[in-house]
Amino acid sequence: MGFLRAALASTLLLAAADATLEPIIMKGSKFFTKSGDQFFLKGIAYQQEAGTGPGGATSGSNTYVDPLANEKTCKRDVPILEKLGVNAIRTYAINPDSDHSACMKLLDDAGIYVIADLGEPALSINRDDPSWNVELFDRYKSVIDNLGQYSNVIGFFAGNEVTNNATNTGASAYVKAATRDTKKYIADKMAKGGRWMGVGYAANDDAEIRVHMAQYFNCGDQDEAIDYWGYNIYSWCGKSSFEKSGYDVQVEFFSNYSVPVFFAEYGCNTVGGAEGRLWDDTTALYSDQMTGVFSGGIVYMFHEEENDYGVVKVTGDTAKTLKNYDVLRTKLAAVEPSSTAMSAYQPTNSPAACPPVSENWKVAKAMPPTPDSDLCDCMFKSLSCAPASNLAEKDYGDIFGYICENDEKACAGIKRDTEAGVYGPYSMCNPKEQLGHVLDAYYNNQNKGSYACDFDGAAKVQTSPKVESSCEVSLDQASSAVAVVATATGNASGTGSSSGSDSSTSDSAAPGFMPSGPIVTLGNMAIGLYVLVAMGAGAAMVAL
Ligand SMILES: *[C@@H]1O[C@H](CO)[C@@H](O)[C@H](O)[C@H]1NC(C)=O
Ligand SMILES: *[C@@H]1O[C@H](CO)[C@@H](O)[C@H](O)[C@H]1NC(C)=O
Ligand SMILES: *[C@@H]1O[C@H](CO)[C@@H](O)[C@H](O)[C@H]1NC(C)=O
Repeated sequence: MGFLRAALASTLLLAAADATLEPIIMKGSKFFTKSGDQFFLKGIAYQQEAGTGPGGATSGSNTYVDPLANEKTCKRDVPILEKLGVNAIRTYAINPDSDHSACMKLLDDAGIYVIADLGEPALSINRDDPSWNVELFDRYKSVIDNLGQYSNVIGFFAGNEVTNNATNTGASAYVKAATRDTKKYIADKMAKGGRWMGVGYAANDDAEIRVHMAQYFNCGDQDEAIDYWGYNIYSWCGKSSFEKSGYDVQVEFFSNYSVPVFFAEYGCNTVGGAEGRLWDDTTALYSDQMTGVFSGGIVYMFHEEENDYGVVKVTGDTAKTLKNYDVLRTKLAAVEPSSTAMSAYQPTNSPAACPPVSENWKVAKAMPPTPDSDLCDCMFKSLSCAPASNLAEKDYGDIFGYICENDEKACAGIKRDTEAGVYGPYSMCNPKEQLGHVLDAYYNNQNKGSYACDFDGAAKVQTSPKVESSCEVSLDQASSAVAVVATATGNASGTGSSSGSDSSTSDSAAPGFMPSGPIVTLGNMAIGLYVLVAMGAGAAMVAL
């Protein structure tokens, strides 16, 4: 094992020594090469079947094709990218278990950097049911570990269009927590000799929340704020202008932003489809009107697919460039962005103030906790009442629903409220662990009456709960945090299932928790509980 690690490490060193591209760094609101030249992204989204529309959202099947894992397709496509004149690609989902060295080397040789989204369709922060948990953080870390080996990786996106309008602003709390934790992960690697890589966010452009979003991700402690702001902008369509497209407003707004801003996607196709694109937006983006504020952008996208945003049509093994590829190539070749040398640049912008909570911005300053599987393990081993080992995950929702409705304090440890900025310390654990914590809290609140750890066999009293000595401090801290949340929660105002665990909340609308076995073992009290539970949470409220 030790030998393998050493061998791997030396291979990595060799790979790094071979690299031709200088790492990109940032200073103030600009990017630079390590030797001090300003860097403008001239990028293109590169991921087949990235999605059915701008934003790369996958519909239906949660599959993806890792664009950097197939040497053959990279050998075919990288020369096409190089000829197009891009210096960066954006990927939306890579498989951290795949070998990317061949493609990364081809890209590096072609002068092309990579900026990669950290999620994948089945494992990313979901705007409708957002969370930031151990499973997601593990995914994000593994992508950083994998791509971080290559010097031509600029950095990452912690999320893409997660909050997309005023109805789902709370999701941004989880994306910012992800930003904080992945930045810390990279910083810890830097302390051991690793290099800087950025973590940013790619936003859509929604007039109602645009300002709050940009402020929120940039505000507060800079170790927790985004390194750069990516904007997915489709406002320049057909024949347009700096003013008509609203680019002027964006430049004005971001002129005092303290970190780099660029287009994370652009290339409106509403006039004449992909092939109708004139790429005058490209010319504008690298003109003096914009280069003082914007660091370039990423065209959406390489592959021509059903959504009709491509510059290259791939059929079987062949890739054929389209007419708008040639137009884009000509426009890119003509740009000459005026730049500033790093040595001459003194940043003056400061971070934004955090936006106040309002009707259109339900995100307080306090963020969700850092996912910590050790803490979850410690907690789970210490439980006096835990889920039965054969309990199916689909049944969790009803138990959460029942307990959180009837004993809100028992759910404080998993509570999540972005508007109040209140998060239970175990809200980042997996659903089974969260359920364990809630069952145990309920059991304790009921003075360990045996009826309170049964739920007709769904819960089991643990005969030898253990608090390992290495767990004492973290469990103590967590229990103080639970107490704080419980106080903040106060009265039973029906946060109920909305504070339940991620995968179970959506289940809580399922039919009530119906014990399937005989009810003989239940005491009077428990029969009362059973009836309420069987009636479902809503009915229980009325009955009370
Ligand atoms: C907000 O976005 C969601 C998810 O894309 C969408 O379903 C909803 O209709 C949008 N609401 C408004 C008011 O735009
Ligand atoms: C930039 O200026 C605008 C308008 O004056 C203001 O709303 C915004 O908060 C400022 N941003 C920063 C980062 O200071
Ligand atoms: C508790 O309930 C009262 C009355 O409904 C309400 O005024 C108060 O704000 C609530 N407190 C909390 C912490 O929710």
